[in-house]
Amino acid sequence: MQSLRTPRRDFSSKGVLRRLGMLAGFAAASAGYQAFAQGDPKNAAPPPSGTQGSSSAVQSAPKSNAPAKTPPVSGGGSAPHGALSMTEQKGRVESLLGPSAAVAVPAGMNAEFWKSLIPAGGKGTLEEVELGKKLYFEPKLSKDGTVSCATCHDVSRGFTDRRNTSEGVGDQIGRRNAPTTLNAALFSTQFWDGRAKSLDDQARLPITNPIEMGMKDEAAAVAAIASDPGYKDAFQKLYGKPPNMDDLARAIAAFERTLIFLDSPFDAFLRGDDAAVSADARAGWALFNGKARCNSCHQMSSSQPLGTDNRFHNIGVSARHQDFEGLARKSLAALAKDNRAETIDRLALETDMSELGRFVVTRNRGDIGSFKTQQVRNIGLTAPYMHDGSLQTLWDVIDHYNKGGEANAYLDGGIEPLNLSEPEVGQLVAFLFSLTDKRFASQNQSESERQRGIAIQRRPFRDDQLVTRQVLPFEKTGAKK
Ligand code: HEC
Ligand code: HEC
Repeated sequence: MQSLRTPRRDFSSKGVLRRLGMLAGFAAASAGYQAFAQGDPKNAAPPPSGTQGSSSAVQSAPKSNAPAKTPPVSGGGSAPHGALSMTEQKGRVESLLGPSAAVAVPAGMNAEFWKSLIPAGGKGTLEEVELGKKLYFEPKLSKDGTVSCATCHDVSRGFTDRRNTSEGVGDQIGRRNAPTTLNAALFSTQFWDGRAKSLDDQARLPITNPIEMGMKDEAAAVAAIASDPGYKDAFQKLYGKPPNMDDLARAIAAFERTLIFLDSPFDAFLRGDDAAVSADARAGWALFNGKARCNSCHQMSSSQPLGTDNRFHNIGVSARHQDFEGLARKSLAALAKDNRAETIDRLALETDMSELGRFVVTRNRGDIGSFKTQQVRNIGLTAPYMHDGSLQTLWDVIDHYNKGGEANAYLDGGIEPLNLSEPEVGQLVAFLFSLTDKRFASQNQSESERQRGIAIQRRPFRDDQLVTRQVLPFEKTGAKK
């Protein structure tokens, strides 16, 4: 972690551009972009019909019975738990990716790199991706037949559920916000606390988690799939075996690796098209790398297009409501008895120890309250924000950082009041909205209007006294008690 004491680099946006341009990998990665831009049918995605106009989640939200003034965080679709129906979601995913885009290299990806993501035992064939897609939308993988992966990672909502924290079988609410499955393949670890090493490891856990999909055990999940002759055949043909958990997870992961969405207006700007983003967004990019120091954790480069360092930091989100010391003792006692992956998964999703974050995985004190630096790609689509969904808009996110997070003993040294002016806050927000893939352009537009509407009325995390250091963070904490 770079601390405040690291000398400020002179990051004009042009300077960063030049640096990025010099990186050899970028040229390779942009081949896919060019195919997209030129409408090459083999490599590029089809026109974004399914995601445009009438079909955006934001626009369909009023159908829900949620009170009109609250943001549509709890569904709005006709499927159980407020998701869009699985049939409609599948249709949309096909119009986003195209029926055969599965095996082609996703737009914006370096072909060699993308293929290197396929783990041992994975096929990376169209058949495997098709099987994984079917399983991703399969409610039979849940105890009561109401929940699939796509319930919480909904195609129409930026592959999230638009809730603060997720709802699974029996309408049980967990402790964590669902991150997007878009581009998740590019992370070094999965989950907010990195407790899964790969997509294949990750996919098994929600199926047997009691409050997500709730299957009694993996055998029950396999049996639910094996009772369907279509699945039986598909597994046999692909893997030469009847349905089993390893291959089931493998197939889902293969489908997720096709969900690469890195073709945003910002990328067009990096390729040299200054007009692709607004002047505000360009100024925001300079702030991101300069005064606001976002890039000390959200590094953006051709080799790290997600904007993450793949590390864990306490940025003072949990600190709003936690007794870290007491919780840490409690979790150590629990883990001394049993530290299986399933147990850690339950601590993370079902107990107040969730707020310990990475600590529950490593048991290092330095990791208390630390969470993974989340990607900033397609960020306009995935509100609410942070591991607990506590920030409703990107204005709230910048307000949080601007005041130096929430003071606590484990706060990362890189989190300090930023003294950003109100126009600068707006510029950072404009930059963040420029990171959404073009295939979601209209949804991104309506979401930015929706969030702006909220921010005009409510900025609960804005604190000018802290921002300008008229009051220091620890004085503020003391004063509240
Ligand atoms: C009940 C809602 C729910 C269901 C069902 C669900 N997820 Fe998730 N998913 C979440 C939540 C909440 C998290 C974050 C949990 C955490 O980090 O502790 C998450 C995290 C993830 C991540 C990690 C992303 C990242 O940025 O680290 C991936 C990938 C993922 N889920 C894929 C899946 C797949 C595949 C399935 C189906 C097998 C699935 N999910 C089912 C809610 C759900
Ligand atoms: C010290 C490292 C660090 C710095 C500096 C930092 N971030 Fe973050 N960022 C994180 C971590 C860690 C998370 C997840 C934290 C959590 O959920 O508790 C996060 C989460 C986010 C999210 C929410 C992601 C989501 O899907 O919910 C956004 C947006 C974001 N950061 C933008 C920024 C911007 C803009 C800046 C600069 C003003 C910035 N970050 C500075 C580490 C950092």
